[in-house]
Amino acid sequence: MKFLIINGPNLNLLGLREPDIYGKEDFHALQRFIYDCCVEEGIEPVLYQSNHEGAIVDRIQEAYNKVDGIVINPAAYTHTSVAILDALKAVRIPAVEVHLSDVGSRESFRRISYAGMACVGTFAGLGFEGYRKAIRFLKEYLNSQQ
Ligand code: DQA
Repeated sequence: MKFLIINGPNLNLLGLREPDIYGKEDFHALQRFIYDCCVEEGIEPVLYQSNHEGAIVDRIQEAYNKVDGIVINPAAYTHTSVAILDALKAVRIPAVEVHLSDVGSRESFRRISYAGMACVGTFAGLGFEGYRKAIRFLKEYLNSQQ
């Protein structure tokens, strides 16, 4: 199984950005954590980060027929991007949404998730562990579909 793991804007500044909300560990540590989780689950990871909405749309389109699942933290684009929602729906690759913080208990604008409307599950407020849960959930979901 191959998973594309997408991280959206400003997540590359983890550690520096609002550490009270997002933690002190940097993006490199997150990438390594995700990579290790995938390897432990026997999944081939493809890691991608971009600050650009169109680049994320392009990457989702490129994944068509090339990956089995997508784990996505669209960051701020979660709450604004119909384009990312449409791309996920277009390629019909099972996807799971992750947020480091508990978006449901923050500002009201963070309660809307467009990308989440195309996802089979969401994990929020668990920090890095949310990615592990998303990877395991997606693997079990895909196995149950066979
Ligand atoms: C985030 C939550 C978003 O609301 C925010 O814009 C982010 C990160 C999270 O991982 O908690 O950039 O997706």
